[in-house]
Amino acid sequence: MTTDLYQAPAKLSRKNLKQGATSVDVPRNTINPIDRTGQKSTESRGLFNSKIGFVLAAVGSAVGLGNVWRFPYFAATYGGGTFLFAYLLIALLFGTCLLVAEITIGRMTGAGPLQAFRKLDKRFAWVGMLALITPAIIFPFYSVIGGWVARYSFVFLTGGAAGAAETGAFAAFTSQTWSPILWLGIFIVMCAALLAQGIRKGVERINLVAMPVFIVMMMGLAIYTLTLPGAGEGVRHFLLPNFNELSLNTFIAATRQSFFSLSLAGGVMVAYGSYLKKDASIEKAAVQIAAFDTSASLIAGFLVIPAVVVVAGIDGLGQGAGLLFATLPAVFYAMPGGAVVGAIFFTLMLAAAVTSGISLMEVVVTTVTDRTRLSRPQAAWTVAVGSFLAALPVTLGMGMWSHVRLGGRDILGMMNFLTDTVFMPLVGLGTVLLIGWGIGPKRIIEAVEASGRKFRLAGLFTVLIKWVGPLLLSGLVVTSFLMAFGVITL
Ligand code: PHE
Repeated sequence: MTTDLYQAPAKLSRKNLKQGATSVDVPRNTINPIDRTGQKSTESRGLFNSKIGFVLAAVGSAVGLGNVWRFPYFAATYGGGTFLFAYLLIALLFGTCLLVAEITIGRMTGAGPLQAFRKLDKRFAWVGMLALITPAIIFPFYSVIGGWVARYSFVFLTGGAAGAAETGAFAAFTSQTWSPILWLGIFIVMCAALLAQGIRKGVERINLVAMPVFIVMMMGLAIYTLTLPGAGEGVRHFLLPNFNELSLNTFIAATRQSFFSLSLAGGVMVAYGSYLKKDASIEKAAVQIAAFDTSASLIAGFLVIPAVVVVAGIDGLGQGAGLLFATLPAVFYAMPGGAVVGAIFFTLMLAAAVTSGISLMEVVVTTVTDRTRLSRPQAAWTVAVGSFLAALPVTLGMGMWSHVRLGGRDILGMMNFLTDTVFMPLVGLGTVLLIGWGIGPKRIIEAVEASGRKFRLAGLFTVLIKWVGPLLLSGLVVTSFLMAFGVITL
């Protein structure tokens, strides 16, 4: 019997449904998901049959464009070492606790975000709604950037390194109409095809090979970049904090980035948690996910920031979202064997982006299959078409519609703002309030310990979820509303 995560419903035998079955956990069932004995259902929407499978899928979701494209540009924009300090603090402490919280909510309820929050406490049903809308907005713009990666991978694979390395080449590409649309479509088709197929065939295998290779390769590239003249200045900017610069804004940016990077507050970890076995240690998994994801970001920072300084000087760090695409090709082009290295780099980055993209899509697809009679492949392709249409204004906003401004931002900037500054903090706030004050941290701690192991971070978890989280996130929500209405600019 197969137990693939994304597979079409498979029949489960009674024997497997009994507690303690070794090859398969009690399934996430559609009839009475909270009844974890599963006796009422003979259907499973798929499970992880190994703990490592779960961690791999979660890491695959976490590591993506957020680490390689977004982290370096956030670090460059929000004060280098100062940002790094705030980021490590928030991602490693608060991020890890929220990972535990979300995965546990999924496992306890056996349901995706839409139902999970409502099941735990009716007053928090809105959190589930927002947790569903968030990936539905992120996926389209994520795909636009995923399309850029696919295009760069193709260009390097077909010997176009010289052209890609020219100054202005990136802006010239993104401002076109048809080419970015084509690449965006290709990215979405890749995600949908993998989702429709099932995880064992696609995603797990990609993760198992691509992730470690990608990390090792980025390390190699970072070491190479550090030998180039001028790299030291970039490293100093990336690492050295200036505590005078530490402001509310640094913490806001760090929180936004850690949520995005750890795939938090977007329903993904709740959905994945709902497929997790009861005897798996959630605490260990959360620590592994956070550690892996943060290492990937750090390595990307050591690669991209010095590379930008080498190619474009310290002022080059002000380029924002184009940082990675505008400068790395030039670094590759200048290095011996760079065309091949660039081809491999962008291809692996594409794999990382696809495994994150499918996790975003999964949340929406799973809700569609729950609520309609569509099969998984039908749902996947329907969501793909919808996302493609939603992504069109985003890509046109880089060119033909670049004059369109929404609250002072371009269309991509607006979708980014809406998700990581408004919706994700709201979902985060809802989650910590639900746990800290609604059902109480005890219930989560007990559910974590249902695996038979002690939850060692329980004390820290309680303090962070009950006190620090609500303060930090309500601050963020209030600030973002003030920003949205133009009362303040940060
Ligand atoms: N964590 C992913 C990345 O860093 C993006 C993502 C955000 C995925 C939210 C799922 C949910 O690329």
